[in-house]
Amino acid sequence: MFITFEGGEGSGKTSVIREVEAALIKKGYQVLVTREPGGSHVAEQIRQIILDSKNTSMTAATEALLFAASRTQHLEEKVLPALKEGKIVLCDRYVDSSLAYQAYGRDLGFDFVSKANNFAMKHLPDVTFYLDVLPEIGLKRIRKRDDLNRLDKEEKSFHEKVREGYFKLLSMYPERIVKINANDTIEVSFNEIMKVLDKKL
Ligand code: TYD
Repeated sequence: MFITFEGGEGSGKTSVIREVEAALIKKGYQVLVTREPGGSHVAEQIRQIILDSKNTSMTAATEALLFAASRTQHLEEKVLPALKEGKIVLCDRYVDSSLAYQAYGRDLGFDFVSKANNFAMKHLPDVTFYLDVLPEIGLKRIRKRDDLNRLDKEEKSFHEKVREGYFKLLSMYPERIVKINANDTIEVSFNEIMKVLDKKL
């Protein structure tokens, strides 16, 4: 089973994924936890270029293509082999991030971004959890971090647009994407996710 986690900045994805991983291992499943952009040697190098705060001149299209390149590498090298071995794959961000951030947030459009992600679009997740957090809450949570990347540093209006993008995706893929409340504690999000997973597994 291929499970992805999506959400805006400070939605608590990473912490929730760790809890889901522990719960699934306890139930006896073999689990691979991975993340995008990155998750493999080559893809991690692409990640550094994309997220480097010094790369202020990067165009939106270049950004989208680099995310797509990193994703393709990671999918072939990590995700597909693990699924073949029967593992449950928990992936922190996937193609919906590009659709929300690049297609909607950067106005590149769904057509361009989904074409650039042709390979990933053929391998859509079995279920995607969208951790919905209000930008003012999420941004307040990440402000405490000292390693903010190029996308974290965008204006609040950009993050609002990304959230609208996720809402569009929720209406486009109602069977696959499940909206989770991420404005409260990690525990609240975790419990909502496990309720859905218990039914699916
Ligand atoms: P990361 O530090 O992994 O952030 P997070 O903890 O929020 O997942 O940085 C990834 C950043 O890249 C994040 O701001 C979302 C953005 N992103 C895109 O814009 N498009 C994509 O396709 C992906 C995978 C990530």
